[in-house]
Amino acid sequence: MSARQILVTAALPYANGQLHVGNMLEHIQTDIWARFQRLRGHRVLAVCADDTHGTATMIRAREEGRPEVELLAEMNAAHQRDLKGFGVDYDHYGSTHSEANRELCHEVWAAMRAADLVVEREVTQLYDPVAGTFLADRFVRGTCPRCKTPDQYGDHCESCNSTHTPADLIDPISALSGATPETRTANHLFIRIAKLQPWLEAWTQEEGRLQPEVANYLKGAFFSEDLWDWDISRPEPYFGFEIPDAPGNYWYVWFDAPIGYIAATKEWCDANGESLDTWWRNPDTEIRHFIGKDIIYFHCLFWPAMVKTAGFTLPDRVQIHGMLQLGGQKMSKSKGSLLRAATYLKHLDPAYLRYYLASKLGNTLADLDWGADDIIAKVNSDLVGKVVNLASRTARFVKSTGLSAVYPDDGGLFEAGAGAGVAIAEAYESCEYAKAMKAIMALADRANEFVESAEPWALKRDEAKAQQLQDVCTIALNLFRQIVVYLTPVLPRLSEQVGELLGTPIEHWDEAQAPLTATPVAKFKHLIQRVDGDAVLAALEEAREADAAKDSTAPTTSTDDDAALKAEPLAEECSFDDFMKVDLRVARVLKAEHVEGAKKLLQLTLGLGGDETRQVFAGIKSAYDPADLEGRLVVCAANLAPRKMKFGMSEGMVIAAGPGGSDIYVLSPDDGAVPGQRVR
Ligand code: 2FM
Ligand code: ZN
Repeated sequence: MSARQILVTAALPYANGQLHVGNMLEHIQTDIWARFQRLRGHRVLAVCADDTHGTATMIRAREEGRPEVELLAEMNAAHQRDLKGFGVDYDHYGSTHSEANRELCHEVWAAMRAADLVVEREVTQLYDPVAGTFLADRFVRGTCPRCKTPDQYGDHCESCNSTHTPADLIDPISALSGATPETRTANHLFIRIAKLQPWLEAWTQEEGRLQPEVANYLKGAFFSEDLWDWDISRPEPYFGFEIPDAPGNYWYVWFDAPIGYIAATKEWCDANGESLDTWWRNPDTEIRHFIGKDIIYFHCLFWPAMVKTAGFTLPDRVQIHGMLQLGGQKMSKSKGSLLRAATYLKHLDPAYLRYYLASKLGNTLADLDWGADDIIAKVNSDLVGKVVNLASRTARFVKSTGLSAVYPDDGGLFEAGAGAGVAIAEAYESCEYAKAMKAIMALADRANEFVESAEPWALKRDEAKAQQLQDVCTIALNLFRQIVVYLTPVLPRLSEQVGELLGTPIEHWDEAQAPLTATPVAKFKHLIQRVDGDAVLAALEEAREADAAKDSTAPTTSTDDDAALKAEPLAEECSFDDFMKVDLRVARVLKAEHVEGAKKLLQLTLGLGGDETRQVFAGIKSAYDPADLEGRLVVCAANLAPRKMKFGMSEGMVIAAGPGGSDIYVLSPDDGAVPGQRVR
């Protein structure tokens, strides 16, 4: 097998929002494929970047009163942190707002002009006279012309699911300022994509290029008539790159976004002393894009047209997946079901989602539904019950001896597992991950049957059977390792841990072909813990809470000043005497510690001055690191009747604001206050 050279990309996440688990489906799918190819010995470059341009970024930066680049830097760091947290390993993660991308956009544009694909035409669009900007469809709200439901988007009604144009809306208003939009005309530039239609049709219909259902969809939906010209420019103000030969006009975000794939590669090449041509002007490079079914149109029509015109290497395959749903429904902010990647990571092991998604993903566009019970059952029964269990029941018996010097007769189990590698590899290659996981779990079932019938724990009790015990464990651990080799693309962390356990890192797929012998076995450490149902619920609960707040990494702005009050209206009036009954005191945090087994609580020892202390369990763990609390002053409700909690007595309360999760803010007095002072 000669090594392939493969460039892998996932769709570039929008820079104006945090990543959520729905995004992770794609990044994990992509990462598994890239890791699989690397493990097979191929040369892989995986790149991604933030998709930064457009009205949404401009408006958000404006709302937050800061330059776009500041917002972009912050989101880029947050995205990279989340991806890393899920073990998604891009060789380079860039930004479409980069010099490399600007230069490449100029290059592609020049090629499109030279091919005479650009025409100019007048466009009528809604304009917000207060915000001073043309309005993208989703920034216009109004009553659905069809079912008359108020407050629908400019292009789509969520109630009757119909599509329309902003001009059809009844009583439209601008979502930016609340103003009534005006109709204005401006000149836009269009790409005459129909000029490439015969080529595009042939290209999309080529065997293997797209999943058959996608090829058929394109044929039915687009190729049955002439392709429309593509509106590629936006008049200022717009956050993007200005079009060199049309001053005051900017490339529409979807023009420069996919060029970001090339720009990210270029940045990697520049940093690694390679030529971009090795990857993007080389018929021997396989280019594979992973995308969701919502952006087929851009990647299967416009993007290849651009690539072809500019003379870059065309993608070999655009691999398309469905959307991740929660409990049978589209994940949505308003339903509080948009679980952010960072929130997930605070509560749960990334391995759970990686394995769970792998166990569900096939080479189809079907949506994939996840639910708390489902992920718990799948991970606990497969990963913990079948895989990790193999090692946890055997490794400790061979810690002092290591593996047997000669691989014992296992009745053909290892060999059968080695043979199964062919079908498992084919399944990975064709993105049939669920099939691969199923085949791997079948191997795990057989290995477990072996362990159960060999009963190493019984052999351990009989000193005369020491050799037999070592042999049984050698077999079990080799079957375990073989399974882990196959799971390496999905569970890279587990693979590393098993490398450490058996003193031999897993670096190539073919390591599943030969058993290990005479190697030391390290002390068994927990590999993957059972999923704790409470942790899943806590993550979902936090998503609900966080979605009540704004999707922002920045300080909340004045427009949100009333959100908290709306979420929790003022309490009933109380008398001054009632208020004075609560004895609030300034206190110093003398000690702050984690509480074993508690997910939300920190244990605080508060000093009220002199010897007077209070032991308080505060539900602030998700927002504070104990080390950051020690020494600081807080406000404590000091005369609350002690409450018995699961972990001990709580003798007061620390005063804090915020809805919960990471949005908790402990109150502190200004400088000068000392412990023991009453707060009134
Ligand atoms: O749909 C999206 O999330 C886009 N930001 C994807 C862009 S992919 C590529 F074209 F840049
Ligand atoms: Zn409607």
